[in-house]
Amino acid sequence: GVAAKIAPSMLSSDFANLASEAQRMLDCGADWLHMDIMDGHFVPNLTIGAPVIESLRKHSKTYLDCHLMVTNPLDYVEPMGKAGASGFTFHVEVSKENWQELVQRIKSKGMKPGVALKPGTPIEEVYPLIEGENPVEMVLVMTVEPGFGGQKFMPEMMDKVRTLRKKYPALDIEVDGGLGPSTIEMAASAGANCIVAGSSVFGAAEPAHVISLLRNSVEE
Ligand code: DX5
Ligand code: ZN
Repeated sequence: GVAAKIAPSMLSSDFANLASEAQRMLDCGADWLHMDIMDGHFVPNLTIGAPVIESLRKHSKTYLDCHLMVTNPLDYVEPMGKAGASGFTFHVEVSKENWQELVQRIKSKGMKPGVALKPGTPIEEVYPLIEGENPVEMVLVMTVEPGFGGQKFMPEMMDKVRTLRKKYPALDIEVDGGLGPSTIEMAASAGANCIVAGSSVFGAAEPAHVISLLRNSVEE
């Protein structure tokens, strides 16, 4: 469905206090927690993997929205499933050959399959993954180059969101990168319903205010 899902990106949290940071975001009204898995190869940054997801899962039953910025997503399906990931979103740029197998395995591990695309990747590239017989259930439109939090939102990406929303009225469409009070209107009016926000939420004096502002914009 297209209900609003507000997903603080834990990349902007204090990783040394991950469990309490996660709980703080849930107390502030977060629906999902966005977990950025980076391998230092697909993107020039290295973050966390399945062991950290497994540790966090012991502290929380919440939906863990995992964004895999890795060159070989297939290698991560089993460990992430075992660790307790809820969503598994891989990048289309590295999955052109094997996305069918990937989606099948993600589902067999009980996770929700999603596909992400970088700013330079045309939206047409994800159509086959939405229309196939084993479709992805979410499309993540990157609104910054993946790799780091705190970058500037790219409004030109809203054409992709509009095109997707027109074509697929019931699809979960997530936006990620530079979302906050000053950019949410663009994303919401284009049709995004899943909103990732890192620095704007964690940097706020009152994260709960930012989360409710994001939600109200989507639900308007
Ligand atoms: C970037 C990550 C994002 C990032 C967003 O590669 O995918 O999830 O944490 O952070 P902000 O909201 O600060 O742009
Ligand atoms: Zn992300």
